Formats: sequence, C-alpha cells, structure tokens
Amino acid sequence: MKNVITIDGPSAAGKGTVSRILARRLGYEYLDTGALYRAVAWKVRESGIDPADEAAIALMLKDTGITFSNGRVMVDGRDVTAQIRTAEIGELSSRVSAVPAVREKLLALQREICLKGRVVIEGRDTGTVVFPEAGNKFFLDAAVEERARRRYGELKSSEPGITMEKTIEDIKKRDLRDSSRKVSPLKKSPDMVYIDSTGLTIEEVVEKIMNSLNTNEAVL
Ligand code: DC
Repeated sequence: MKNVITIDGPSAAGKGTVSRILARRLGYEYLDTGALYRAVAWKVRESGIDPADEAAIALMLKDTGITFSNGRVMVDGRDVTAQIRTAEIGELSSRVSAVPAVREKLLALQREICLKGRVVIEGRDTGTVVFPEAGNKFFLDAAVEERARRRYGELKSSEPGITMEKTIEDIKKRDLRDSSRKVSPLKKSPDMVYIDSTGLTIEEVVEKIMNSLNTNEAVL
C-alpha cells in the first residue's frame, strides 16, 4: 500500500511534530490518531460517564460524531482541538483507549480517512493494526527523560502545578498501560524502521525518515 505512511511510538516521542513536517514535505495529509482517542476521552468526561463503564462508553459512541481535518478535531460539531491537550485528558484517553468498542469505532474512522488520499498517520497501532499493509512504517522512540522534558515544556504554561517528576511518572505509567493492554498494544513490528530520536533535532529525525523511505512503496 503506497498512499499511507505509518509512524508509531510511545507518548511524547515527537511523532506529532515529525509527522506534520514529513506530511507537508511529501504533500501528504496528516492524521493524529491520539487526538481521536483524546476526543473520545473528552466526550466521556463531558458526559459524566464513569471511564470504567465500558457498556456506557459503547452506547455513547453510537451517537458521537468525530472528525479530524486540517489539524482540527471536532466532536459532535464542536471544535475541541485545544481542550484535549491537557494532562488529564491525556491520562483519560490512555484509559479509554483500552476499551474494545472505542478501538473498533476509531479503527473504522482511521481507515475511512486514510483511504481518501495520501496520509502520514501516527499513533500506537497504525502500522500493526490500522494499516499493516502500509509500505512505509516507522517506530519513533526516545529516552523517557527526554520525552518527559518535551511533554513538560508543552504543559507547564497551561498547568502551573505540574512538575518534571510528575511528568516522568505519568509517562512511565502511560507507557506501561499503552504497551501492556490486550487490544492493539503499542508494539514495534519487524517491518518497521526503528528511529531513536534521543539527542536529535526534529529536522534530523525528519531527514532520517526521508532517507529511509522506500520510494517504491510511496506515492511521491
Ligand atoms: O499520542 P497521544 O498522547 O495524543 O495519545 C493519547 C492516548 O491515546 C495514548 O495514551 C494511547 C491512545 N492511543 C492509542 O491507543 N492508539 C493510537 N493509535 C493513538 C493513541
């Protein structure tokens, strides 16, 4: 499959920034699948649903409309792009992403969005489950301390109470949950190119991906 490039990896590995730049350079669309899980978490919270109540979440999803276009996430017609970027929604999205009904709904949505064009899609299972048939798959990783530093930088202005220690702890907890869940855990498959971005600039990571791109398996 030539029109989809997948980038998986743990929380705060730089997938978003790298994917956005890569997509722009290649003339592809960009799909942030974490934003879709965050959107579901936002609705769970907004509806006052207990995140442990899988049946209630499944029911809620039946009449929930989520769209992602040009970097904006909409839930039932409401733009939640900024509101989903909090530590609380990040934590809640990791919990609800283990619910099978959530994964099922978002799997169909992700495939539908990508089959319309050329897309760089990033997340936790985009190369293993969503598009195992993609011709170019990457796994972007970085040391926990470096990922925490990046996440802390993003959160500290909007969440004054946050500390570096708490950010490291949250990231470790999220790594464990994202990679040990039963459905679609975060996993590097043998056909993914592994990139460790520790100590590299965004530009250097994008260059590495460009250099490793299998151009026979991409629409350029
Ligand atoms: O990348 P992020 O922090 O925005 O992702 C939020 C959560 O969504 C993450 O902790 C796990 C979940 N997620 C997932 O399960 N599968 C994906 N493809 C993307 C995100």
